[in-house]
Order: sequence, then structure tokens, then C-alpha cells
Amino acid sequence: MSRARGIDGLSGTDKDKLLAGVRATRKAGKGRRPTELAAVRDAKRKAAFDFGELPNVRQMRMQRAAADLLGIENPYFRSHAGIAGNRTTIGNREYVNFSSYDYLGLNGHPAVTAAAKGAIDQYGVSVSASRLVAGERPVHRDLERGLADFLGVEDCVVMVSGHATNVTTIGHLLGPKDLILYDALIHNSVTEGARLSGATRRTFPHNDLDALEDMLTQMRDRAERVLIVVEGLYSMDGDLPDLPRLLSIKRRFDAWLMVDEAHSLGVLGATGRGLAEHWDVDPNEVEIWMGTLSKTLCGCGGYIAGSTALIEYLKLSAPGFLYSVGMPGAVAAASKVCLDLLEQEPERVTRIRENGHRFVERARQRGLDVGPSAGYCVVPVIVGESVSAAMLSQRLHDAGVNALPIIFPAVAERSARIRFFVTAAHTAEEIDTTVDLTAEALTEVRAAGSQLKKLVGDRVRS
Ligand SMILES: Cc1ncc(COP(=O)(O)O)c(C=O)c1O
Repeated sequence: MSRARGIDGLSGTDKDKLLAGVRATRKAGKGRRPTELAAVRDAKRKAAFDFGELPNVRQMRMQRAAADLLGIENPYFRSHAGIAGNRTTIGNREYVNFSSYDYLGLNGHPAVTAAAKGAIDQYGVSVSASRLVAGERPVHRDLERGLADFLGVEDCVVMVSGHATNVTTIGHLLGPKDLILYDALIHNSVTEGARLSGATRRTFPHNDLDALEDMLTQMRDRAERVLIVVEGLYSMDGDLPDLPRLLSIKRRFDAWLMVDEAHSLGVLGATGRGLAEHWDVDPNEVEIWMGTLSKTLCGCGGYIAGSTALIEYLKLSAPGFLYSVGMPGAVAAASKVCLDLLEQEPERVTRIRENGHRFVERARQRGLDVGPSAGYCVVPVIVGESVSAAMLSQRLHDAGVNALPIIFPAVAERSARIRFFVTAAHTAEEIDTTVDLTAEALTEVRAAGSQLKKLVGDRVRS
């Protein structure tokens, strides 16, 4: 028996085995003909340049193959003909649509379309470069001024992507000596921006402001600046944060507060001014308001609204603004008209609230789990396993309802869901029949799931 030599924690026996293995491998290599070895090398080299060999790609393809076996079509990247509002056309069939962020039903509004066409006639389809060097068009400032006035803050800047707005703003304002604390359900654009900044990053459990306070008590003194980031209305669960308490926390710990209003602009507050109006607080108490143009404002891009100094600083130095093309005039003009319509027709805001409440109340009556949804524009129906959510979405699709599943890893495996985006344009009948259909289809999916489990169990036993 070999003595334990103890090098790197390996016993002598293990080391002997390892060496024997290495020798055997070498021998196997030696035994191969040069042409064989070249073929192996060639195959390895080819695989190194084949993205299909990446572990994540292989896993995605395996998931797709499993879904095909279960008869679940790919629900993503479906091609819609025409405007996707409360109804949409996919293939040659019309669907009731709960996968649109057109919260106030303004996409295709004649005034919005006319503004976009007018701007194309005047400025063409592109401004071709950064506003700093290629100059701006009056529609850029009209939109920014309009947003700042509507929100009740000093100034605003718009950028070409909502996602990039968060990334560049957070990535630019914070640095390695700082601390960023964000809600566990915060959007990916915030976490990417935080990563870019190099600051220390921590998540606090969803809407748990006690936990946030504890973290600040422990960590505040070690950081130069602190940023707290929350969403005005959470895109996965449809609930909202306690803004008055957040303001008191941020004041006490000397922190900046940033609110992402992607889903709350045009939705919360009696006139759609968002979270500050909902809680009746002065919007100037929040350092950074962020929002997207892609939802309520039917455009494409993001904005930051706040103090004059903040906006001036971002416009002169945030890389995602400075080194990126300005927004096409047509998009800025269309979003500005949407903002005007939001101001002129607050009944749209009332309607989305009524519709969201109706959906949630009926869903709860039918025994569906809508989680903590506050009943505005985002209503999840939590199903459990990813495969059940995908099967439910497929059944709804077959029945003429377009509503997409959110599955692991976007949410925890046990809380996969169908996410319904409710808009001002949905009719009461569309909401009621969809909720009823969902409840019936979910019962069928659960029955099919337990049959499948029983079958698998029987096979394993036999
Ligand atoms: C909370 C939140 N922030 C930011 C974004 C990014 O916005 P956009 O899609 O307009 O780039 C989204 C997108 O859905 C979002 O839900």
C-alpha cells in the first residue's frame, strides 16, 4: 500500500491513480493516428466558434425541444399584423390582447399618428447623431419641457432607450465608493446600471422597508453616496412601494431616491402623474424620476426628470446620452401628443384603474392567485411551475386570448405566472371572459399535470 504523501491533500493512492490516468490518456493520444488527432483538433476548433455549443444556448434548445414534445408553441416573437391594442391579429386570427403596454390605448390615435407623420415630413426619420453635435429639433425640448411640467419638477432629458436610460444614469452618477440599494424585484436595467457603476450593490426583499432600514443602519457610514431605487408600480407583481415612508428613510440616512415609473406614469394618481400624485407628496422630494416612453406614451425611449442641475449634468456627461444618437423627431412628437392627450383626457386614467380593479376582483372571486397586485395595469396570475404557466398560456392562446407566461429564471421556479397587462381600452366583457377562461383553463392544466405526474410515477414503480 502506498504511503500517504499528503501533497495538495491527495493521499498517495489517489496520486498514483491520477498519474496512471494521465499516462493512460497520453497513451491513448499516442495510439491515435495523426489524421485522427487532426480531426479531433479540427472539431474542437469549430466548436469554439459555434455559439450553438455555448452551455446556455444548448440549455435553451433543450427547453424548446421539451416544450415541443408537450405541444407548447413558442409564445415569444409572435408576428402581429396591425396595431396591438386590446385586440390584435396574429396570423389570420384576432385575439383579445393582454400583452400590450399601450396602457391608455393611444397607439394609432389619429392625433398621435398625424404628429409622427408631420415630424417625418419636417425632419426626416433620423437626427443622425448625438444632439450635442448634430443639434436638436424643437420637438425634443417640447417633450422634455412637457414632461417636467406634467411631473412637477424642474427639468427633464429624454434618451433613445428606456433600458439604456437607467443603465447610463445609474452607471454614471454612482461610483466605487458608493452604495446602491434596490428592491429585489427591480428591473434588469437598474441592476445593469448598478453593476456598471462599480458601487457596492445590495437588494432588499420586495417592498420590505424594515429590511431597507436595517441595511442602511449597518452600511450607510461606509459609503460616500447612497442611492435607493424602487419602481412606481412593479412590472412583475403589480404592487407599489410606500413612498412617504421611503422619503422619511432617505432623509434620515442622507440617501438619494430614484423611482422608475415605467408602469406608473399615466396609471397612478387621479390624473396619471404617477407615484407622487398617488401618495400626494411633493415630487421634488424625490431626486430622480425615471420613466419610459414605450408604454403610456406610445414611443420608444426613456426619460430622467428632476432638478435643473441633475439634467444639465446628465446632458453634458452621461455616456448613453452624449455618445448616442438623439431621438427621432417622429417619436418625440408622437410621445408629446400622447402626453397632451393624457392631460386633456384624464378619464383614460380612471378607466385603466377601473379595469385593473375589475380584473383583480373577479380573478380573486374565481380563486386565482393574483399575488399582491394592487389592480392597476399589471395583474399576474401565479400558477407555480414554469411548464404549467406555459401550458396555461397555450390554452388561452387556443381560446383566442394572447397573454404571455413569465417563467424561470425571470421569476422563481415556484412562482411562474401569466402576466396580464390591463389597459384603458379593454372592455368589461373582454376582462370578464378572460378571467373566466383563465380559471377554467387552469383547472384543466392542473388536472393534466397531476395525470402526467401519476403516469410518470406509475412508470417509475412498474
Ligand atoms: C421597470 C422598467 N424599467 C425600464 C424598462 C425599460 O424600458 P424600455 O423597454 O422602454 O427600454 C422597462 C421595460 O419594460 C421596465 O419594465
